[in-house]
Amino acid sequence: MKANQLTIKVSKSNDSSAKSVGVAVASNGTIAREIGMSREQLEALGFEGKVGQTLILPNNKKQLTILVGIGESAKATADVLRTAAAALARASAKVVSLSTNLAVSGRGDRVANAQAVTEGLILATHRYDALKSDKNATSKLESVTLVAPGATNAAVARGSRRGETIADAVCLARDLANMPPAHLTAKMIAERAQKIGAETGVRVEVFNKDQLLAMGCGGIIGVNRGSVNPPRMVKISYRPGGARRGAKKSATKKSTAVKLPHLILVGKGVMYDSGGISLKPSNPDHAMMKADMSGAAAVLATMSTLKSLGCKNQVTAYMMCTDNLPSGSALAMGDVLTMRNGKTVEIHNTDAEGRLILADGLSLAAESKPDAIVDIATLTGACARALGPQMSGVMGNDQKFIDQVVAAAAATDEQTWQLPLERKYRTMIDSYIADMKNVGGTDAGAITAALFLDEFTAGRPWAHIDIAGPMWSDADAGWLQRGATAYGTRLLINLAENFKRR
Ligand code: BES
Ligand code: MN
Ligand code: ZN
Repeated sequence: MKANQLTIKVSKSNDSSAKSVGVAVASNGTIAREIGMSREQLEALGFEGKVGQTLILPNNKKQLTILVGIGESAKATADVLRTAAAALARASAKVVSLSTNLAVSGRGDRVANAQAVTEGLILATHRYDALKSDKNATSKLESVTLVAPGATNAAVARGSRRGETIADAVCLARDLANMPPAHLTAKMIAERAQKIGAETGVRVEVFNKDQLLAMGCGGIIGVNRGSVNPPRMVKISYRPGGARRGAKKSATKKSTAVKLPHLILVGKGVMYDSGGISLKPSNPDHAMMKADMSGAAAVLATMSTLKSLGCKNQVTAYMMCTDNLPSGSALAMGDVLTMRNGKTVEIHNTDAEGRLILADGLSLAAESKPDAIVDIATLTGACARALGPQMSGVMGNDQKFIDQVVAAAAATDEQTWQLPLERKYRTMIDSYIADMKNVGGTDAGAITAALFLDEFTAGRPWAHIDIAGPMWSDADAGWLQRGATAYGTRLLINLAENFKRR
């Protein structure tokens, strides 16, 4: 089921019945005659064609003409068009239908441009409204026609279909992260994953508390100790169509089947992070800790698109799901946990819970010897302090793979910045009683968290994406909406599609 409200069509000509017409205008060059105004006149109205600027004019066809700026025409790439599309959708919020040439107004790859426009339109109109009485409060816009004349039509249609699949996944991840804690427990997100798996052609296996205990997953079991809601681990598997599992047919002959590049995603799924015994202060801002499962949501959303996008790589995902709550049975400071890979961890702060559950997920991922592992987690306030709300931090043990993550971030306009995995800081998490403790000091919090995770990767190529900054938006802006952003979903989809084994 689609998570967004827009129907997007692609047509060779303008839809004359549309209530509004969106016209792309560059900040240079001539103004299209259909607008009926000179650049001077538009500038007098305060419209210069800057990226994302809009101007609404009535026209004589009982429509609104909505001008949308795309900046300098030579620089109108997919990122620009995504931003312009979001602005156009916001300007069209009071009408039900829109017809626009935006998808064919940019430079470069037509498929990528149409995909970006579709993403911008959908992401700027989506709202988690399940708990709102008035479902149309945000935007009345229901249908958009992307005008793609002649030879451009096929590419725009293809790009738009990709854009819909991807944006719908982002909306799904946003919805999951915006859901209040009691509306989405670990058990419930696992059930949701099973349903999504059945609908989108990926295999979903759910592991309950007893199974996790039997598997020696001391991290997730430990974090869950304070909660009345049991934990869940969700494993999702995707193989491109036609690829066979192992070589069951010929037990005698060695398999000649080509081993596909294999990427594993691990997502932090803390359904609500109260801090546990190290209780967070009672600040209403912490309501956003319901979105501490944004990594797991991005991973699930990513997996839901792979079959439909025809991803050529093998991709497996682990969602590590539990809440982090204080109670008489909760994890205490000084407790020592034995993790899935046998390493022991002394607890010095129960609010550093994300790394404990990721540790088990990373260990399991490494056991299947994939070509690379990437984890995504709302892990440290330190990373949010360092880089702010517009970018994640990335660290890892393999520069070539980190480069692939950085490239995927750049290609999707989900910015990231590499921080050093400085091995000299490993002593900051030394414990006198166990193999390590779960926090460093006050310094370099994002790095010591990553050094902790590194202990569970068994040296497999690995990258860690800390999304504590960009997981949340305080305002509707560009293609972001207030609330959970689902940051990382488009990045991971791009990474899964373009992943290259070394
Ligand atoms: N989920 C939080 C990190 C977080 C903070 C995410 C703000 C998004 C926005 C994480 O579990 C946490 O509590 N981290 C602690 C670690 C500390 C105890 C070492 C932090 O950052 O304060
Ligand atoms: Mn925490
Ligand atoms: Zn957390």
